Amino acid sequence: MADTKSPDAVALLKADHRTVEELFAKFEKASGDGKKQTIAEQICMELTVHAAIEEEIFYPACEGKVEEDLLKEAYVEHDGAKILIAEIEAGGPSDEFYDAKVKVLGEQIEHHVEEEEMRVEGMFAQARKAGVDMDAIGEQMAARKAELIASYQKGGLPRPELTTMGSTSPA
Ligand SMILES: [Fe+2]
Ligand SMILES: [Fe+2]
Repeated sequence: MADTKSPDAVALLKADHRTVEELFAKFEKASGDGKKQTIAEQICMELTVHAAIEEEIFYPACEGKVEEDLLKEAYVEHDGAKILIAEIEAGGPSDEFYDAKVKVLGEQIEHHVEEEEMRVEGMFAQARKAGVDMDAIGEQMAARKAELIASYQKGGLPRPELTTMGSTSPA
C-alpha cells in the first residue's frame, strides 16, 4: 500500500455508489415538492461527478485490462443515465413524469453499480486482478472530484456530454 491519505480507487467509487443509493432511498420516502427536488438535484450532482471521474480516469485505466464488452456497456449505461439526469435537471416535481424519471434512473444505476461491483466478473474485480494502480488513480479521482464539485456548485451542472450517442440530442 502506498502511504497516501486518499482512498484507493475502488473504495472511493464504492463510497459514491453508497451515497447515491441512500439518496434514492431518501427520495422515495420524501414528501413535499421542495424536499424531493433538493434530493433529486443532489442525486444529479453526485452522479454527474461520479460519471465524469470514471470516464476521465477510471475507465481509461481499465482499457485493455477489463473485458471490452463490459467497458463499452458501462459507457452506454452512463449515457442513458445522463439523458435522464438532463430531464430531471430541466424539470421539477410538478412534472407528470418527474418521480418516474428519478425512480427509473435509480433502477438503471442499481444495475450499473452491480456490473461494476460484482465479485470476480465485475469491472472493479477485473481491474484489480489485472493490476490497475488503484492508489494512484484513487488519488487522481479524489482531486478531480473536488475540482468538479467546486465548479458545479458555482456554475450549476453542465449540459451532459454523451460519449456513445452522438447522433441525437437529449434536450
Ligand atoms: Fe460507478
Ligand atoms: Fe459507472
